[in-house]
Amino acid sequence: MKGHVRKFNLIAPIYQFFFKFQVLYYSEIIRKYLPELTSEREECLLDLGSGTGAFAFSWQKAGFKVLAADAAPGMIRQCLKNGLDCIELDILERLPFADNSFKIVTAAYLAHGLTKADREILYRESSRVAEKLVVFHDFSARSNLFISFIESLEGSFYKEFINAAPYEMEIYFQNVRVIPVNPWHNWYICEP
Ligand SMILES: C[S@@+](CC[C@H](N)C(=O)[O-])C[C@H]1O[C@@H](n2cnc3c(N)ncnc32)[C@H](O)[C@@H]1O
Repeated sequence: MKGHVRKFNLIAPIYQFFFKFQVLYYSEIIRKYLPELTSEREECLLDLGSGTGAFAFSWQKAGFKVLAADAAPGMIRQCLKNGLDCIELDILERLPFADNSFKIVTAAYLAHGLTKADREILYRESSRVAEKLVVFHDFSARSNLFISFIESLEGSFYKEFINAAPYEMEIYFQNVRVIPVNPWHNWYICEP
């Protein structure tokens, strides 16, 4: 297990405390912006870097058939307890799915935690296994001191990511649309 994932494995029980709050937050965003993505329900959706499953759970509540996936066993245990199908996988190894296996692939707060080289793997692999859309819920270009502080403690690639998105995604997708879901967060809607 890489250091980055080991850290998430350790903090999984703490992350779980925020699950209900996160579900409220994500569900409201999905309710508001889903009509801009699709009118279909019951589509197969893969959520990468699911953590305890709050984003995945919110899509499931909205009617999608969801598979969650994470590299940290501690997160997977919480995710299963939260009523999701969840598997262990490292997105940096080739995803164990055929091309176009899922209508939609999602990932919340995963991309900014990865190096540029690892984000490229994320973009390439998510584009390969998604038939219709890839949705990245992540930070917007509007930098924020509090977020910068927390992310520097976490050792993420926050600043690099917000300066590079959405342009770096455009290499791997036919089209990338940005929906500002609030001042500090975007949905990056990518068409494979
Ligand atoms: C910031 S958390 C976000 C969790 C969840 N998406 C949410 O919104 O609450 C990032 C998650 O990505 C997972 N992760 C990081 N690198 C990964 C990798 N290479 N493969 C799979 N999961 C990874 C971590 O274990 C962690 O659960």
